[in-house]
Amino acid sequence: MALSEIKKYEQDGGEAKEIAQYLPWFPFKGIPRFYDIGGFLYEPAIFQKVVDIFVDRYREIGIDSVAGLDARGFILGPPIALALKKPFIMMRKKGKMPNTVSSDDYKTEYGSRSGLTVQRDKITKGQRVLIIDDLVATGGTLSSAISLVKMLEGIVVECACVVELKMFIDPPADSGLPSRSKLFKD
Ligand code: PRP
Ligand code: MG
Repeated sequence: MALSEIKKYEQDGGEAKEIAQYLPWFPFKGIPRFYDIGGFLYEPAIFQKVVDIFVDRYREIGIDSVAGLDARGFILGPPIALALKKPFIMMRKKGKMPNTVSSDDYKTEYGSRSGLTVQRDKITKGQRVLIIDDLVATGGTLSSAISLVKMLEGIVVECACVVELKMFIDPPADSGLPSRSKLFKD
């Protein structure tokens, strides 16, 4: 969610902290901040507002489908797809669906991850896909999803998340994490 949209939400009387719960040292010590969308999912008015902001934006831009990333992108993606009357596509962790293409393994702030998968027949050439997840940290998960759309010759219109951890745009060189600004350069 863009900062300007959060500011608008605050101008309308909401508070940014209502959008994402913040917990230090979770899931293990060394992770400075854990943001979770569980806060606003429990508040129907705020959940609806978050969905509406995305729906307004992508109704205007125009998309053909919404791809949600396993697992928390499966919460946000379907209400957005339904409101736009567009298909919802699952991008799942490996080994869960037949007839898939897979992306390479990648690193996140929690360590190495196996790539995502999508069913081959769900994305067609030239299809305009919106990728939805709850949060971007290193960007490893989103870039995995982008590569799946590209493999099937679809077009990534945008990647949309509620929370952005800016500290991962260019993490410390000794962290071993990829630079998000380099990851998304192309
Ligand atoms: C979390 C989060 C994003 C990803 C962001 O997923 O939901 O998908 O990490 O990290 P990145 O930008 O460094 O790739 P995770 O797989 O930990 O949990 P989930 O299965 O609950 O979505
Ligand atoms: Mg996730």
